[in-house]
Amino acid sequence: MSTKAAPVTNAFSVEEIRAQFPILKELIHGKPLVYFDNAATSQKPRRVIKAESAYYATINANVHRGVHTLSTKATEAQEAAREIIRRHINAKHVHEVIFTSGTTASMNLAAFSLGQLLLKKGDEVLISGMEHHANIVPWQMACERHGAKLKVIPVTDSGEWDLKPQRRSDATDSATSFSAERTRILAISHVSNTLGTINPVKKLIAEAKKLGIITVVDGAQAIAHLDIDVQDLGCDLYAFSGHKAYGPTGTGVLYGREELLERMPPWQGGGEMIDTVTFEKTTYAKLPFKFEAGTPHIAGIIGLGEAIRWMEDYDKASMAAHEHILLEHATKELLTVDGLRIIGTAKNKVGVISFVIEGVHHYDLGTLLDQQGIAVRTGHHCTQPLMERFSVSGTTRASFACFNTVEEVEVMVGATRKAVKMLR
Ligand code: ALA
Repeated sequence: MSTKAAPVTNAFSVEEIRAQFPILKELIHGKPLVYFDNAATSQKPRRVIKAESAYYATINANVHRGVHTLSTKATEAQEAAREIIRRHINAKHVHEVIFTSGTTASMNLAAFSLGQLLLKKGDEVLISGMEHHANIVPWQMACERHGAKLKVIPVTDSGEWDLKPQRRSDATDSATSFSAERTRILAISHVSNTLGTINPVKKLIAEAKKLGIITVVDGAQAIAHLDIDVQDLGCDLYAFSGHKAYGPTGTGVLYGREELLERMPPWQGGGEMIDTVTFEKTTYAKLPFKFEAGTPHIAGIIGLGEAIRWMEDYDKASMAAHEHILLEHATKELLTVDGLRIIGTAKNKVGVISFVIEGVHHYDLGTLLDQQGIAVRTGHHCTQPLMERFSVSGTTRASFACFNTVEEVEVMVGATRKAVKMLR
């Protein structure tokens, strides 16, 4: 039986949704804000802002530390958020949900701890060529510490994994294949932040598991757009941030399979993660607290719980369908701009569109779009190796959320056309 959230109660209406985001009323350079930088951070509905400030106004106290009323209330509110998240991603146990400050912290925790547990000289960690720096650098650091090697799944021209080498039975010496003897960890993104590609993670996880490889998924760009079921995916660890899913900045989650988390050593030491401390020896707290040193971002966690509940009111399938309409429209219209090339043309994408325009620098375009009130991200998007793969220094990226509209896409395309005329 599914343990997912209660059935959807509200029909999807973009106007009704927009009314819940106070920031959408802001003017930028005197123009209505068109916010297309949701892959960097999404905007927050009023309910989330209220939940976070209500904590400070009415129950501010530290968690799991006192017997006084406010501390108890704060603990209950934080742990209620943990249960909301457990249910949302269909984790088996609530103690499999670890709070972090974001996906970057989650990946650093994973890489440090799994490195200690698993890696030795000659071992390999396999990532893909479209990873965010947060899913490259922590593994490089772990490999350096333990004498292991980082291997990379190549990316095709359309911006998908080139998995052919994995499937070759004679591929054990290929740079990108799984090796039963050497590959210890597979760390891959569910959705590319730069290309929007939805990767076939479930399939690759299943192949890795057959060889006993530990699987880690960077779900930063998936959490707001796809239904996540960690048991169905079969991954060992799954990381995401709250702020890309309508929740507060400074919040994140690392889901881990209980049996693996029990074996993993802690990452950071300090208060709350211990059971007993003497100057000779420390024993660690039980899950999830073993991985939660220090005072957490309690207000943010409560806000994240509210953000998840807010998303569940609308259901991700309806949100995703709306965002797909925006993606299709933007793709069709942008391709009519002279000299424009889309980077990332996979069939299966979320609402992320990266592009370059001949003779136009992305920073100049981003600056002129901003003058029209349009927020897009420009640059390498924390994916420098991917930029190199496509032989570009950076792109302009529009990334959509459920509150965006087709009219806004038209405003962006019109402003892009105008900017190109000015810049050429
Ligand atoms: N990782 C975020 C992005 O892709 C910041 O923009």
